[in-house]
Amino acid sequence: MPENSTPHLFRPLAQRGLTFKNRVCVSPMCQYQATDGRMTDWHYDHHVRFAMGGVAVGMVEATGVSADGRITHGCTGLWTDAQIAPMSRVTAAYKRYDAIPAIQLGHAGRKASTQRPWDGAQPLTADEGAWPTMAPSAIPVRDGWPTPKAMDEADIERVKSDFKTAAARALAAGFEVVEIHGAHGYLLHSFLSPLSNRRNDSYGGDLEGRMRFPLEVATIVRAAWPAHLPVWYRVSAQDGVEGGLELAEVIELCRRLKTIGIDLVDCSSGGISGSPSLSTVHPGPGFQVPFADAIRSDADIATMAVGFITDPHQAEAILTEGKADMIAIAREHLADPAWTYHAALALNAPDAHALLPHLYHWYLERRAALTKG
Ligand SMILES: Cc1cc2nc3c(=O)[nH]c(=O)nc-3n(C[C@H](O)[C@H](O)[C@H](O)COP(=O)(O)O)c2cc1C
Repeated sequence: MPENSTPHLFRPLAQRGLTFKNRVCVSPMCQYQATDGRMTDWHYDHHVRFAMGGVAVGMVEATGVSADGRITHGCTGLWTDAQIAPMSRVTAAYKRYDAIPAIQLGHAGRKASTQRPWDGAQPLTADEGAWPTMAPSAIPVRDGWPTPKAMDEADIERVKSDFKTAAARALAAGFEVVEIHGAHGYLLHSFLSPLSNRRNDSYGGDLEGRMRFPLEVATIVRAAWPAHLPVWYRVSAQDGVEGGLELAEVIELCRRLKTIGIDLVDCSSGGISGSPSLSTVHPGPGFQVPFADAIRSDADIATMAVGFITDPHQAEAILTEGKADMIAIAREHLADPAWTYHAALALNAPDAHALLPHLYHWYLERRAALTKG
């Protein structure tokens, strides 16, 4: 079949020294099942389902660069070497099935020290092991939440160095793509948003000041990550709250991210004063795709679209219309870990069975031959 009759979703994409075999990425999803930041068997089971289902890239959840940067006690981390080995099992599984392992590194800032979602997602109490939080300014997420410490220069330097060390550990664990978590109201986003950043030093004020810390982190991670491997960045494309961060400001950030060597922007939204848009508004299918589209055209950088993308034809149209370069799928993967394989069948992609592990492939080919006969 000639190249151009292959659906866009199944055309490879080259970035630096890597080639993604198709355009499907498992979007990062916190599992809240880690012990002291270390992955458990659950994480392995969770990811190996996707690895066997044909995805090009499997991304591990928001992983704290420091213990105080975790969202909950159950979040994964990379602040000690002991956290590397359990992650290596996951990266090896993705590689066994010809998929690329990615990890999202982050610091939860003023949204750290909270309960797991099913326990209420409220700030932890002292009895539950709460820890102090920090942010650009001493402004709580909302009324009733703890007031974070306004970060001083030493805090800023420490977090930058934590990102650098965590990136080195991610590499040692076998990851090939690192994504910086700059969305959902966590630390980097809270520096960018005028609602949470009221600093009057060089890390606040106008957009230039508010971008400074996220750009410094991105520069440090880019330098720590090998030149032949990509670095991605997840943005909240807008706050969606009056007086909050606007898309035009995020586009400017993305232009700057491109100049420092960031390879793709993963386009989410919301979360500055609570849950991301997903939980606070009633989004329709592909509700964040316009952000991926605008950032791709105005900042001239590769984008990944995410949010309520469930149907293969919907995903194909996003790529065909030039609105994004990759498609991230979170919840639909929970229901169907072989979403990529099923999408290949639905779109008549050549060699769909080859997306499944070899042994399955053989049986399915034989069944297909019988059906034809
Ligand atoms: C259980 C769960 C955990 C999530 N954890 C993260 C995370 O660690 N980092 C992140 O940036 N987004 C996280 N998200 C958001 C998803 O990556 C994704 O952007 C969102 O669910 C929209 O995509 P979907 O409609 O395909 O689910 C999470 C979503 C879910 C459902």
